[in-house]
Amino acid sequence: MPKIKLAENTVQLIKDICKEFENKESELINVLHQVQSKLGYLPAEVQEVIAKELKTSVAKVYGVVTFYSFFTMIPQGENPISICMGTACYVRGAEQVLNEFKRQLKVEVGESTEDGKFSINCLRCVGACGLAPVVTVGEKVYGRVAPTDVKKIIAEYKNH
Ligand code: FES
Repeated sequence: MPKIKLAENTVQLIKDICKEFENKESELINVLHQVQSKLGYLPAEVQEVIAKELKTSVAKVYGVVTFYSFFTMIPQGENPISICMGTACYVRGAEQVLNEFKRQLKVEVGESTEDGKFSINCLRCVGACGLAPVVTVGEKVYGRVAPTDVKKIIAEYKNH
């Protein structure tokens, strides 16, 4: 991934958030949450600032970001689509649903569409196994999604 240069005010924003949590390493997850909610994602350059402020290693920050599926290192589309790939969803056809999203939007997992409207990601179990296969678009949860529903779901967000 190409290196990005963080704007001064972005670095300041990250520092301010770290300060809110008293620059404590034990608050790493909370800091990451806050920073992601402001910036939308946690690229390596952002993780480096956080590591420095919390006096911890970049490897530790990276480890946490990659362990939890709700953290992302990739910029999200306006409507981030997540397909649950947990066991229950997987056995009920999540992969076919994912493939249909990829086909319709012409993007791979972790990418955004050219117009920035959609991005696709996979999640581990989101805790709604009874509704498997589960797809979320932003905050909205769709249950029992079949590949034939994909077009309709995308259409809901196309003109927003
Ligand atoms: S496996 Fe998808 S919600 Fe649990």
